Amino acid sequence: MSSGLRRDCPVRAFGFNGSRLELCRKFTDDDLVAQAVLFYVAGLDTTSNLINFFLYEMAMNPEVQKKLQEELDAVPDSDSTNDLYERIQSMEYLDMTVSEVLRLWPLAGAYDRRSTATYDFGPTAEGSKHHLVAEAGIHIWIPAFCLHRDPRYWELPERCVPERFSPSRRADIVPYTYLPFGTGPRACIGSRFAVLTAKIVLARLLREFEVGRSARTPAPQRLAPRAFILRPARGFFLNIRPRHVVTEGQTS
Ligand code: HEM
Repeated sequence: MSSGLRRDCPVRAFGFNGSRLELCRKFTDDDLVAQAVLFYVAGLDTTSNLINFFLYEMAMNPEVQKKLQEELDAVPDSDSTNDLYERIQSMEYLDMTVSEVLRLWPLAGAYDRRSTATYDFGPTAEGSKHHLVAEAGIHIWIPAFCLHRDPRYWELPERCVPERFSPSRRADIVPYTYLPFGTGPRACIGSRFAVLTAKIVLARLLREFEVGRSARTPAPQRLAPRAFILRPARGFFLNIRPRHVVTEGQTS
């Protein structure tokens, strides 16, 4: 009995809706190198700048930092990596704050799609006879940064309010207004890894150190106009000092 798949297809897979896909493209060495490079390009600056923007927000919002440090202090510290994942996952306020920093600073400020077929989104406004139609082949930009700060969807959008992402309020977020990692089959493949890495670094750092503003910390923040990934125009300048000062005779 025929499977319906072409015999010369090197890869067979299942689509998101269970449909069979035939991936007939042969991968060359160049393809593989390009994929490996993409992981570096897409994964390194984004994650490190998430950490930087997070520290910036902590410096600008000491009350948020204090609340976060209370949570960090409540979770036992350990050098053991055995239960690291569970300890990080148990930190609810850390998770809420990372989500809020990603709202304020979605590292990929905008990303694109090309429509493969003509698609009618329907009337541009209720009762309008004009339809929003994406013609086949058209290029569409999704402005995540603008959506994340649109006052129609976010109350006081410029403020850092992690409580927006509390378990009880998360459901209030209007679908597709919060897209730090994109959405659909081409969404960021490294989102969980990025968030976990950033949380581990931040938990370690903020348990030991307090972040504050320095004379060179810009307020408000200004972004570099030509940057591919969001970054400040003049770097990140912060004051970092130990939370627990060790005096002579003390062991920790
Ligand atoms: C905070 C960190 C990160 C942010 C904000 C971020 C954001 C994004 C966004 C917005 C996209 C486009 C999604 C779309 O078009 O719908 C994307 C794609 C991608 N990201 Fe990330 N990313 C991050 C970290 C990472 C890491 C750590 C990796 C890899 C280890 C990674 C690998 C990729 C790859 C390979 C794609 C292309 C996926 C595809 O086209 O199928 N990213 N990312």
